[in-house]
Amino acid sequence: LPTRVRILAPARLRARLAWSLTPLTVPAAPPAPPVPRRTPATARAPEPAAEDTALRTPPPHPEGARPPRIAADRMPTHVAIIMDGNGRWAEQRGLPRSAGHRAGNVAAREMVYGALEIGLRHLTLYAFSTENWQRDTEEIAAVLEATRRELDEGPVRDLDVRQRWSGNPGKLPEELVRSLLREERRTRARTGLTLTVCLNYGGRDEITRTAAALARAARAGDVDPDLIGEDDFARHLPHPDMPDVDLLWRTGDEQRTSNFLPWQATYAELYFTPGHWPDADRRDLWQAITAYGRRRRRHGAAPLVSPRKPAVPTRPE
Ligand code: IPE
Ligand code: IPE
Ligand code: MG
Repeated sequence: LPTRVRILAPARLRARLAWSLTPLTVPAAPPAPPVPRRTPATARAPEPAAEDTALRTPPPHPEGARPPRIAADRMPTHVAIIMDGNGRWAEQRGLPRSAGHRAGNVAAREMVYGALEIGLRHLTLYAFSTENWQRDTEEIAAVLEATRRELDEGPVRDLDVRQRWSGNPGKLPEELVRSLLREERRTRARTGLTLTVCLNYGGRDEITRTAAALARAARAGDVDPDLIGEDDFARHLPHPDMPDVDLLWRTGDEQRTSNFLPWQATYAELYFTPGHWPDADRRDLWQAITAYGRRRRRHGAAPLVSPRKPAVPTRPE
């Protein structure tokens, strides 16, 4: 390792200096190659390179709402959403829960539109958890079918959105896995918004599979177990280039994270709202981002104390 550092560090510094002096626009880093995670049943010959027809802009909000201006240093890079409350939304209307999931997909589209309009870089949506298999088969089928239809026919397909999937392929219908992987390949060169759909996703499952990948790398002699650090772990995650979550928003009046992104969201600002997911629209995303902009994040550092303001006592004296 010391030899590697001694040889590579000066070269990296020179390369960084050369790039900083180059008057060209540096192309965006290509997306990381997908980590092999296909079951044999779903593995296929590689498909042609990403095709791209003309990209559309998001349809305007029906009431003409426009995103607020957010200062660059107050803007989150990565918003992740636990889209909760579909079932209760449907039940309150005397509808089957499947209707709630379909309405939830419409709200998810809205968030993608809002994310593009406000200039968000990463949006991650929790669509189906590894625990959701405990629901009855009819409801599971409705959620998965609504997602597949959205992937195959939904209007997000033609926006400047790089679509990715995070989750375990096991148990998912093959056709759905094919659609997920196809959209990943088709949209991989897009640079607008990275949308990660978490489907059959569980944080513990992701950590367990990452640990297994790291163990395999150690067995192959690619990493030294005595020197493993957080970066090595992060490099073996299914999406190593996913940035940490800045803002984790959950609808549906529940205040828990339900096995969502435990590695990436350790320092996320948490934001809980009472409404059901199908009632949310892009203005709620903008409001969440505005609220995030008012938070003071410290990452373990001591707060900055203004010398003129006396400390406020925690209880009356
Ligand atoms: C979230 O809504 C969607 C999924 C978990 C698939 P729910 O279906 O959990 O809705 P509630 O919480 O029962 O209202
Ligand atoms: C979390 O919602 C999962 C998704 C939104 C996909 P749940 O409704 O399944 O979570 P719990 O069971 O209430 O914690
Ligand atoms: Mg729920």
